[in-house]
Amino acid sequence: MEASLILWTSAQLEAIRQSVNAENFDVVHTDLRDAFHPLQELLEKVHGEVLIVDCSGVQTPQDLLALESFSNDHQDVVIFMLNSAYEVSTLKAAMKVGVREVFASPPNAGDFSASLKRLLLRKKNTPSTDEKHAKVVSFLSCKGGSGATFLATNFAYILAQELGKNTAFIDLDLQCGDAVYYVSQGPGKSSVIDITEQIDRLDATLLSSSMLHITDKFDLLSAPEEPVSSDTINVNQIERLIEVAKKCYDVLVLDLDRIVTPSTLKALNMSDHVFIVMENLLPFVRDAKRVIAKFRAMGYDERKLKLVVNRYERNGTIDIKEIEKAVGIKVSYTISSSFRDVAQAINTGTPLLHVNTENFIVDALRRMAQEFTGTKSVKRSDWFSRLMHS
Ligand SMILES: Nc1ncnc2c1ncn2[C@@H]1O[C@H](COP(=O)(O)OP(=O)(O)O)[C@@H](O)[C@H]1O
Ligand SMILES: [Mg+2]
Repeated sequence: MEASLILWTSAQLEAIRQSVNAENFDVVHTDLRDAFHPLQELLEKVHGEVLIVDCSGVQTPQDLLALESFSNDHQDVVIFMLNSAYEVSTLKAAMKVGVREVFASPPNAGDFSASLKRLLLRKKNTPSTDEKHAKVVSFLSCKGGSGATFLATNFAYILAQELGKNTAFIDLDLQCGDAVYYVSQGPGKSSVIDITEQIDRLDATLLSSSMLHITDKFDLLSAPEEPVSSDTINVNQIERLIEVAKKCYDVLVLDLDRIVTPSTLKALNMSDHVFIVMENLLPFVRDAKRVIAKFRAMGYDERKLKLVVNRYERNGTIDIKEIEKAVGIKVSYTISSSFRDVAQAINTGTPLLHVNTENFIVDALRRMAQEFTGTKSVKRSDWFSRLMHS
């Protein structure tokens, strides 16, 4: 790929040139900035497929305006911005004007080369990614605290790590989405709202640059850190987001807002499977009935609803038969409580698989993942391969 570099000093230029060359990019144009010439003038000479530009300094707001008009005219050029005041507000403003990634100046070498690598990979994969058509699975919590987010994140992680599926997790719980902390130290990179606010610009590269890359097969788009109203994302935005993501991954896991809005219904309709997570207690049964009634009222295919009874106790107050009779669909999975391992996973932001690969919740999630994708686990758990190779 060909890159143009616009930086402040020749030392900086050489350093960036080296990193870029090391990733097999060709530097086809370079320019040095000074305080007397606005960025706009320099942008006129840019060519190639990637622009790396340093926007540190007092001119950042003017730089962003210049980049906005540049990116409008050159939608196929990927812009990487360096900024010494690497703040969330700058990052958000930059993404809004079409910048794909923002780095500190000087950038962290590992992050910078990883992003360049990703760009190359995306380009190489472009024809095949367009043909991809991810399966979509949604998790919906009957009443808060059913364990939907915990199960969804760990289900997605197992799909990626054990079944080798390129998996994207999108946290659509706009009120209290905290999925990122279940499988990482968090916080996320950009939020789903940052994406939907600029939905017209959304493509595979923007989506990838907004995702937190938790492993090489598992990306996560987090909910906003501060709660926003459940109807902040509209139907067109959610549809476009899912459509773009479907082209980039094998599986898309959605954690939905409990408040069923038109966009939640859209997501449900676009899902191949919907896991409704509940406990075997009366309030959860009431809520499950409410959700399923809404689903039926929309005329959606009921066969994709899978009821999961979490924290299941065999001698609990309501048995499975009663639940099935009350809500009108079969229970697909029961998952018992596992206080110690789950607490350790949650408290450290570690996937349960890594806390205890033999935990029975991991086994249940493996089964769910295999049945969902119709595949057998290709990458067996560590203990199993150790056993086989010892
Ligand atoms: N099977 C389980 N055993 C023990 N704790 C669980 C189990 N499932 C979920 N939890 C815990 O319950 C709490 C609420 O789960 P969460 O996934 O946030 O619920 P929801 O998304 O339905 O509101 C979390 O701390 C989670 O770790
Ligand atoms: Mg949740």
